[in-house]
Amino acid sequence: MTGTGKYDAAAEGWSEEQYADSAAYLLHRAELVVNLGPKLEPGDTVLDLACGDAGLAEPLLQAGLRYAGVDLSGPMVEAALRRVGDRAEIYEGDLNDFTPPAPVQAATCFRAVYYARDRRAFFRHVASYTEKKLVFDLNPRQYRVAEVRADLAAAGLTHVELHPFFSPQQVALPGPLAAALQAAERSGPLARLALRFRFSYMVAASPTRQRG
Ligand SMILES: C[S@@+](CC[C@H](N)C(=O)[O-])C[C@H]1O[C@@H](n2cnc3c(N)ncnc32)[C@H](O)[C@@H]1O
Repeated sequence: MTGTGKYDAAAEGWSEEQYADSAAYLLHRAELVVNLGPKLEPGDTVLDLACGDAGLAEPLLQAGLRYAGVDLSGPMVEAALRRVGDRAEIYEGDLNDFTPPAPVQAATCFRAVYYARDRRAFFRHVASYTEKKLVFDLNPRQYRVAEVRADLAAAGLTHVELHPFFSPQQVALPGPLAAALQAAERSGPLARLALRFRFSYMVAASPTRQRG
């Protein structure tokens, strides 16, 4: 599961290729990284595990956060370095055992939790260096939410917030429609119904209930 061949080949222009409206998509993701669960403050550091070409760096840096990324693919790391220059740290490493040089306030892991060799051990490792929260995406049609919660709790990440994430990856929506979809994320039962067929949750897991 550690081969990165398909990612090596797709590294150049990854974010722009993967997300039809990459700026809007990654901005919405970044807003939830900041606000879901314990709020991040300017100056806090986000470590983006399996960062790809670090497309998420831009909106987080714009929000006044520090950004560090780690990815197993050498070409992804090079693409990330080209994107962020000296504004962020980028490391080549495996999310299963990478440890940042200093604790971070948040760790993120998007479209890559399945690269955890042992999910419970992965959560425990991330919790060992993360002060406020781990934020990741979760497809409820692929994973049982209760099982993921149990693994988080076993790692000491007992406070979990789930938020539906309704930005489409492959379609660029006109502004009003995108805004309506984002409003629908808060529609409770309707949002949960939609998640039976499409989209994912954004999950923020933290060791304690903290006020932002
Ligand atoms: C689907 S892409 C997601 C990239 C980015 N997070 C995003 O959301 O656009 C998965 C990424 O995981 C990286 N990857 C795969 N296995 C990994 C591992 N064990 N440790 C760190 N990164 C890994 C790949 O190189 C690739 O960049």
